[in-house]
Amino acid sequence: MRTEVIAIASKDDEELKRAGAVIRAGGLVAFPTETVYGLGGNALDADASRRIYAAKGRPSDNPLIVHISDFSQVFMLAEEVPETAKRLADAFWPGPLTMILKKAELVPETTTGGLDTVALRMPNHPAALGLIEQAGVPIAAPSANRSGRPSPTTAAHVFEDMDGKIPMILDGGEVEIGVESTIVDLTGEVPMVLRPGYISREMLQEVLGVAVELDPAIVVKPVTDEANEAQEKDGEAQPLRPRAPGMRYRHYAPKAPLILVKGPAQAVTAYILKQIEEDKDKPIGVLCSAQTAHAYKDARRVVVAGAFGDLPALAHNLYADLRDFDEVDIDRIYAEDFGIAEDENLKEALENRMMKAAGGHIVTVG
Ligand code: TXA
Ligand code: MG
Repeated sequence: MRTEVIAIASKDDEELKRAGAVIRAGGLVAFPTETVYGLGGNALDADASRRIYAAKGRPSDNPLIVHISDFSQVFMLAEEVPETAKRLADAFWPGPLTMILKKAELVPETTTGGLDTVALRMPNHPAALGLIEQAGVPIAAPSANRSGRPSPTTAAHVFEDMDGKIPMILDGGEVEIGVESTIVDLTGEVPMVLRPGYISREMLQEVLGVAVELDPAIVVKPVTDEANEAQEKDGEAQPLRPRAPGMRYRHYAPKAPLILVKGPAQAVTAYILKQIEEDKDKPIGVLCSAQTAHAYKDARRVVVAGAFGDLPALAHNLYADLRDFDEVDIDRIYAEDFGIAEDENLKEALENRMMKAAGGHIVTVG
């Protein structure tokens, strides 16, 4: 199959009509959103969902997010629409928030990975909204990467992973945010974040006026080197099971192992330099801030994620940076922690994504 890449300039772009027709006919179209690129198919068509799982190489028990362009579609897709959903939609839609609700009969279980709940999101991107409108159906879309690869933040990333597998990629340039939407489960007694994203728990709490929990299974605990070794010996026993099936899989991991180094900036740099020095024959990669990049002159690959403490830049660049490391032959990657803990908004999202990229391997220094 030839994969067409089509630049989309606005919501009224004529090409969106053609793309909408592909979706209506059961085909797949990759499209930009404000978070990451999605791989879309008709959410109401079980065969389209199967094609999505196949193109991604994704286990079919990992449910898809259903994208809509108008709030009225929620009533069609969800059996119950709690007041909390309306309030959150008013505040954050279109935007980087996904809500889990009880699913309506209409939504095939293939789309929801066999669950009786459905994930709904109204993305804030003209190409995405235009595509959903032109398709005339809600669009199921996971991130448009092959399973296990970092989520795509440009059309070129999608092409790398999907060339020959899908007919069409809509190119809207680089995405804005760079990490996937916040997922909040509204089916339980307390709203619970299953995947942290740009919309923080504080933002949700402010709108809802009640405490919002974080799925305890994905809470990042500071681990020491010793704890890590002990855990490796135990065969990485994972005591809690994340409630979003996708959060259970190893994800976002670059080909070379990545080690996250936490601690005061100077101690972090000193530690990484020592590792490079002690292992001179091995090609080492470093993911670092603009301020410290010059120090790592003996590393094989140095990727600057942004200025120290600039968490939006780190989020925006992270997945492209991880893909960049895959281009070179390296033994391992050290990532500075960027003062993530100091940030109010993106803290939980970035801790979670960095943890996943590191496969849990964290060294704390200083
Ligand atoms: O920002 C985003 O959300 C992007 C763009 C394309 O919209 N999409 C995205 O989709 O990240 P995906 O498939 O890569 O991640 C969806 C996550 C998975 O972890 C999945 O398990 C979870 O949402 N999920 C979907 N439906 C669910 C449900 N009913 N209950 C719990 N988790 C669900
Ligand atoms: Mg994904």
